[in-house]
Amino acid sequence: MKDISKENLIKEFEKVYGDSEGVSVYFAPGRVNLIGEHTDYNGGHVFPCALSIGTYAAVRKRSDRKLNFYSLNFADKGVTETSLDDMRPCKDDSWTAYPKGVIWAFMGRGYEIGQGLDMLIYGTIPAGSGLSSSASLEVLTGEAIRDIYGFLDVTNTDLAVIGQYSENNYNGMKCGIMDQFASAMGKKDNAIFLDTATLEYEYAPIALKDACIIVTNSHVKHSLVGSDYNTRRAECEEALAELKKTVDINTLADLDEDDFEKHKSVITRDNCRLRAKHAVYENRRTIKAVDALKRGDIEAFGRLMNEAHVSMSKDYEASCPEVDILVEAAWKTEGVIGSRITGGGFGGCSVSIVRNDCVERFKEEISKEYKEKCGKTADFYVVSIGDGPCKL
Ligand code: GLA
Repeated sequence: MKDISKENLIKEFEKVYGDSEGVSVYFAPGRVNLIGEHTDYNGGHVFPCALSIGTYAAVRKRSDRKLNFYSLNFADKGVTETSLDDMRPCKDDSWTAYPKGVIWAFMGRGYEIGQGLDMLIYGTIPAGSGLSSSASLEVLTGEAIRDIYGFLDVTNTDLAVIGQYSENNYNGMKCGIMDQFASAMGKKDNAIFLDTATLEYEYAPIALKDACIIVTNSHVKHSLVGSDYNTRRAECEEALAELKKTVDINTLADLDEDDFEKHKSVITRDNCRLRAKHAVYENRRTIKAVDALKRGDIEAFGRLMNEAHVSMSKDYEASCPEVDILVEAAWKTEGVIGSRITGGGFGGCSVSIVRNDCVERFKEEISKEYKEKCGKTADFYVVSIGDGPCKL
């Protein structure tokens, strides 16, 4: 759909639901993470930013308890009808499990939702790209619910926490808080330096004078529900439990590199030791990277991104051959300051910082190498960093 104006979304709503009486339109963004991967469920730091692409919803309250969901991205599925009386957690992989999970999570917190909803959704995040289409749908649903039912005590941080809670407990994906937080707390032209242990955060302006951020989509579908993601998390927990017997820590991020090297031999399984190493080093890298950015040392930021990729690929084993090829090709290309896989991994996208005068060459060279080595076409998006959720 080309026209994503409020008016057009309302028109689409009318086509599906007959009229648009009482409808409101909302938006919540996707995110790209610049550095700090798989640190959020290890008590560490992350550095994501909200994108200007995301998910839109036209929503209205009904007078009965029905919930109707329709997505313009999955128009062939038609309207999915369900009800507030049918809200059991399920590992259902349909997109409707995300808004349902958020409604369920609000109800579980004691918010009274007595009337159902008609909802029409449209997302502009490429599916399976690892740019957090699910988190944006969760935050979007929260934003709409807060407004429609008048739950005015709900803060944007709450929207993030509720989104993560529903994804963990309704959808069964044991994600951390990063994606929902980035979507709910996004700020135009800023990345968010978040301490996931305390939810303290700081905005850091991304003013790259001569460079831009490019996301490259490998089109290898990253599917996190029921994937290796939960296994990685369990491996980190196993390593933490063993470390706790000898060091006084609450999370892996409580260790610095030296402490880790001193105590790592207590971790029995090789896999768990490697995962923990990544979590510890990645957290420290993230802190160093934000310091470098504050000093205006973008070259140092880029080098840390590159190290972060090696760690994701070798120690966390959460990359894939295709994204490794994209990143390695970027490292060889003139004008690339840093490049790494972004998001949960196992497919999805890379994120690169590229000098403005080299963007065209970047696209040409990476496309060529990707086609030659993988037989696939990569897509490129020059990132514009947007705000958090809003009512249009
Ligand atoms: C996914 C999860 C996040 C985070 C990243 C990896 O996007 O939803 O919570 O763990 O992976 O950094």
